[in-house]
Amino acid sequence: MTTKHILNVLTGLLLLTSLFSTRSRGVDKGLSQTLNIVTVAETKSLQEVTLKSAAQDFLVGVAVNPLRVKDSMYKKFYRQEFNSITAENAMKMKSILKGIDSNGNLIYDWTRSDIIVDFAESNNINVHGHALIWHESIPDFLQGFSGTNKEFELLIKTYVTDVVTRYKGKVGSWDVVNEAIGDNTSTLRNSLFLERMGEDYVKKCFQYARNADASVKLLYNDYNLVSDQKKQEGTFALIDHLKKNNLIDGVGYQMHINFDAPSKSEIQSATNQIVKRKLLVHFSELDVKVNPNGNINQFSKQRALAQRNKVQDVVSVYNDIPKAYKYALTIWGLKDNDSWIITRYGNKDWPLLFDDSFTKKEAYQGFIDALD
Ligand code: GLA
Repeated sequence: MTTKHILNVLTGLLLLTSLFSTRSRGVDKGLSQTLNIVTVAETKSLQEVTLKSAAQDFLVGVAVNPLRVKDSMYKKFYRQEFNSITAENAMKMKSILKGIDSNGNLIYDWTRSDIIVDFAESNNINVHGHALIWHESIPDFLQGFSGTNKEFELLIKTYVTDVVTRYKGKVGSWDVVNEAIGDNTSTLRNSLFLERMGEDYVKKCFQYARNADASVKLLYNDYNLVSDQKKQEGTFALIDHLKKNNLIDGVGYQMHINFDAPSKSEIQSATNQIVKRKLLVHFSELDVKVNPNGNINQFSKQRALAQRNKVQDVVSVYNDIPKAYKYALTIWGLKDNDSWIITRYGNKDWPLLFDDSFTKKEAYQGFIDALD
């Protein structure tokens, strides 16, 4: 029970006491007014607010993996709080594409991705597909691919087509390409896809996905799009090109951010860049580091509150987006100790909305407060 709920119950009790004293004095007007207030207070306290119930017109997502969607405790929270999921790794190329057989056919392993899609299907949860093309998830056999560029391109076309086709009607959206633009630059980062397929590789991949499923939403996803201006410019040049060709439906801002940056107005103006292009906005991988400089050893009350405020900023910017351009706000994991940030950066950190024992944090309340 949150402090807010306890307060609601206490308010209810106080009002009930005053109701009885009013009744004994027989003052009718006072009685009916008090009755209304009691009803509201009681109803509020009995309702269990969840992330998805607080968000009225957008999906609330969480990053999952195949083991967790089979674990009863995780499952309980996924079902209760979220109506969308993203596979943290299980739907990336490295997880699915295993090689080429002697007839030249691609060898797939759908085990991990199917577990996630099946879980979503049986629980009426949306799946955001992540990610068809990403320079950090290339199977080893493909890194050393000895065929021609044309053969490479055909292989990628087949891969994108097969994956999108397999999950047609089951996956609501795809990150077609993840992180194509370099850091502090407006140009494409160097990658195997750029080398083998040329400058137009992003457009080609969006086209393959569009051809495979005309109704799935297609998104471009990247990090630091709020704070890195050059990267933002390059990204929007790419996006405008895709939009002109009617190949893109939305943009994912990953939102791996810090407790003290970026500011609400920076998030707001970067978000406007998507909205003014009439594209869907996905805040796709939200987590908020509280120890980016490694200067704390314990999660202090002060950092917890700063994190709560930052989450509130993010959610309130998201909530202000016109309804037509809202899609989903996805949190990059459930519990603090599940987060990739701890392994990646080495510092202790507490970046998510639930603590290690599945308890809601201040940050959770920040999410709810933004939508009150
Ligand atoms: C990037 C990718 C994600 C994931 C995170 C780390 O943001 O888009 O798929 O790998 O890094 O968890």
